[in-house]
Formats: sequence, structure tokens, C-alpha cells
Amino acid sequence: MLIISKEDIEKAVDSSELVSAIERAYIIQDKASTNIPDRMHIDSDENTLLLMPGFIDSVFGTKLVSLFPENAKENKPVLYGVMVLNDAQTGEPLAIINGSKLTAMRTAAVGATAVKYLSPFMAQTLGIIGAGVQAYHQALIVSAQRPFRKLIICDKNLSKAEVIKEELESKLENISIEVTNDSNQLVMDSDVIVTATSSNKPVFDVDIEKLNNKTFVGIGSYKPDMQEFPLSLYNAVDKVYVDTLHAKKECGDIKIPLKKGLIEDSNIIPFSSVLTSGELLNEAPFSIFKSVGMSLFDLTVAELIYNNAKEKGLGTEVNI
Ligand SMILES: NC(=O)c1ccc[n+]([C@@H]2O[C@H](COP(=O)([O-])OP(=O)(O)OC[C@H]3O[C@@H](n4cnc5c(N)ncnc54)[C@H](O)[C@@H]3O)[C@@H](O)[C@H]2O)c1
Repeated sequence: MLIISKEDIEKAVDSSELVSAIERAYIIQDKASTNIPDRMHIDSDENTLLLMPGFIDSVFGTKLVSLFPENAKENKPVLYGVMVLNDAQTGEPLAIINGSKLTAMRTAAVGATAVKYLSPFMAQTLGIIGAGVQAYHQALIVSAQRPFRKLIICDKNLSKAEVIKEELESKLENISIEVTNDSNQLVMDSDVIVTATSSNKPVFDVDIEKLNNKTFVGIGSYKPDMQEFPLSLYNAVDKVYVDTLHAKKECGDIKIPLKKGLIEDSNIIPFSSVLTSGELLNEAPFSIFKSVGMSLFDLTVAELIYNNAKEKGLGTEVNI
């Protein structure tokens, strides 16, 4: 069995391969051999264990994620994760993969896939609200989708934005990077806006009438009372794209505008239909995509990481 660390993951895959793995997930989502049950939550006081199992044709796997909020006080990560990947023909365990890095890379690739299909081809400025783990990976992988010249990063804690700016500068050599704590100005100045915060409330508030040709990608909110987008944004679009229709139940950015009648149920569109219809959406004046994540993405990306790691001699073989 192969142990695959976060450094191995970084060396194993590039952004275009990651986007292809996400496209594959959307395409096989409705196949009979794809079996992704609801994830299981086990709570112990304020701590949570999440089990996310699933089968596709070639592999099955389980991502195990722990969320221990008090860790933040001791400067430890709130979230730890491991993914166990198995061969679907024999059940043999193939790999244990760093689940935090896997999640961040696959979530960034979900954002990048939305930008690939929805944003104008000549988008120049990428704005990211939030400067945490997801934001860093979104910057790396989304920025490869368009000829971006500028990246603006906003966090309510400006020093966090400054830290990731420094980390990104050596990796994104052809993009100038600015930091700000003015999220409204970021939205006005950006062609593509990714929100990747832990906020419960909308993270910007601008006059939608003054905006044109913008692509919004929501990553952060995942509970019914969490929102990153202001309700006024929904007046600008007919359709809202989601990675999974569970978003209608799970997240405030879809559930609240639906309840308020700002968007019709029939206009919440699964992103898989964009891939299967071949419709070109890049010239739409506005688009909104909302991700809540699904374990199918973990599986297709884990399989890609495993196959590439084997091919490149990465990871540590162990007998268990
Ligand atoms: N869609 C998915 O599949 C998926 C996957 C992983 C994580 N997430 C979610 O993404 C969010 C971010 O995750 P993370 O790991 O980067 O967390 P993190 O704690 O590392 O970073 C969150 C950042 O958001 C900033 N922030 C909070 N409120 C803000 C506001 N109003 N304006 C500007 N900045 C603000 C915080 O200061 C922090 O720097 C979480 O809600 C997480 O659950 C979604």
C-alpha cells in the first residue's frame, strides 16, 4: 500500500489533470456503477467525525475527516483528513492519502472547472475573498484557467492575505498580486470572484446594476444558515449552477434565495448538465456557481493522484 503525503500530492498532479478528474466526476455522476451514499456525521460534544464513502467503476474509497474547533486556540489545524483508496475489483487497499491536501486540491479544481466553462475567455483579474487554506489552492488552480494578469486577495484579517500573497508570489510569476480588506472594491475590479471564507453573512455588498460580465464562484458556505453571496446578486441571473443538488438543502447561498422566491427551483442547475449539453456559457454577462462538495470528487481525484504517484515513483510503500 502507498502512503501519499501532501508533498507527494503536489508533485503528482497538475491543474489541468485535476480539472479533467473533476470533469470525469460530473460525467459519471449518474452512472449505475457510481454509488455515493450520504455522508455520515458523528458528533462528540463540539467535535465531529465525518465519513465519506463511495464506489466508482475502478476504485472505492472513504475519506475520514475530523473537525475539532478548539484546536484553533492551540494553533493546530481544525480539520484533519485521510482518504483510504481501494481497488474496486478486489477490495485491496491501494493507498492512504493526505485528506486535507486532497480536499483543498479537489475543491480548487471544482472552482477552476466552473471558471473553465462559465467565465469570459479574456478574464484578466481574479479576486479571491478569504485567505485561508481553500483560498490559497483556489488561487493556484483557478488562475491557470484564463490569462489572468492580476490577483486580488481580501481577508477580514489583512495579515492572512499578506501571508498567502507572499507564498503565492513565487508560484504565480506572471500575475501581479494585491491584497485588500475592501471586498466591494475587489468585486468591482475583478472579472472572476471566488468566495472561500468561513463567513455566515454575505461577504460583499455592491450595486449589481454597476457590474457586468462577472463570474461568481462560491466555495465557503456549507450550512443552511451560512451565506457568502448577497441576495441582490440573484437579480442578475436566470440560472444558478451547483456542483450537487444537495446544495438546495445544505447551504444558505441556495436555500435562502429559493425560500425568498429570488430564484426558481427549476433554475438551480446541476453543473454536470453543462458538461453533457456542450452549451457554451462563456459569453453570459453574469454567472453564479455554488459548490458544497461531494465525495465523488475525492474519488476521481484520489485515483488520479494514486496512478500518477505510482508512475512517478512518489509516496512510501508499506506492508500492513
Ligand atoms: N465547497 C467545498 O467542497 C469545500 C471544501 C472545503 C472547505 N470548504 C469550506 O470553505 C470555507 C473556507 O475553508 P478554509 O479551509 O479555507 O478555512 P480557513 O479557516 O483556512 O479560511 C477562512 C478564511 O476566511 C476569512 N474570512 C471569514 N469571514 C470573512 C469575511 N466576511 N470576509 C473576508 N474574509 C473572511 C477568515 O479570516 C479566514 O482567513 C469553509 O467554510 C469550509 O468549510 C468548502
